[in-house]
Amino acid sequence: MLPILIKGLTLLAGGRAVLDDFTAEIATRGITAIIGPNGAGKSTLLRALDGLVRPGRGTIAFGPGGRSPAPRRAFVFQKTALIRASVVRNVALAVEAEPISAAERAARVAAALERVGLAARAQDAARRLSGGEQQRVAFARAWARRPDLLLLDEPTASLDPAATEEIERLVVALRDAGTKILLVSHNLGQVARLAEDAVVLASGKVAEHGPVDRILKHPASEAARAYLKGELPWMSFAGVS
Ligand SMILES: Nc1ncnc2c1ncn2[C@@H]1O[C@H](COP(=O)(O)OP(=O)(O)O)[C@@H](O)[C@H]1O
Ligand SMILES: [Mg+2]
Repeated sequence: MLPILIKGLTLLAGGRAVLDDFTAEIATRGITAIIGPNGAGKSTLLRALDGLVRPGRGTIAFGPGGRSPAPRRAFVFQKTALIRASVVRNVALAVEAEPISAAERAARVAAALERVGLAARAQDAARRLSGGEQQRVAFARAWARRPDLLLLDEPTASLDPAATEEIERLVVALRDAGTKILLVSHNLGQVARLAEDAVVLASGKVAEHGPVDRILKHPASEAARAYLKGELPWMSFAGVS
């Protein structure tokens, strides 16, 4: 089903190119980070990959030679709008449309809640949970869908360090289960911990794409250098180098 082959992706909005001839080949396995300044087009790129927005130009294709059907996808945002219902109901909604039996659906929901450590909270009101717990519900929703491709848009941006660590553990577990993950994050310590490769996005274009270690330590492009200069003081402050 993968890799992801993105060619010449161009998306105009508000009179300018939000994505501007974006071209990249994204590996089949592991975690790929998408980094770059606010407004670079990161969220728009994930939305295009999820089929939520249609680019004016360019193509997104999957699989060797681009001939595979689109992979099963799930999306987790910085903040997930949970409905005013129980935790289990919120997760069940994510698999409502799956062509599987009710028993299989219930089993998947239970397994996902177990996986994120919320089985004991299944009947609690979802909106009463802490921010970190609500984000774990979002991951349970994603997990229950058994995605091949998981799109994460700043999934820990509003969480404290302990909740962030729990989410990072879930991301690693999903990766180890074979899910391809695209991670948008300004937390460069997180990017260094989790991702193999990074795409640096600037003004809708790929400034560079390569191994995370190399990009964080020796960025080749001016755009990456400028972005990292703004973020790296936080990294060294956090003990990451
Ligand atoms: N539908 C839209 N209409 C107008 N402007 C948009 C639309 N979608 C995104 N943009 C603009 O495109 C730019 C990139 O947005 P986004 O993809 O959210 O960037 P990022 O996630 O990297 O911060 C921003 O300036 C945003 O305001
Ligand atoms: Mg964004």
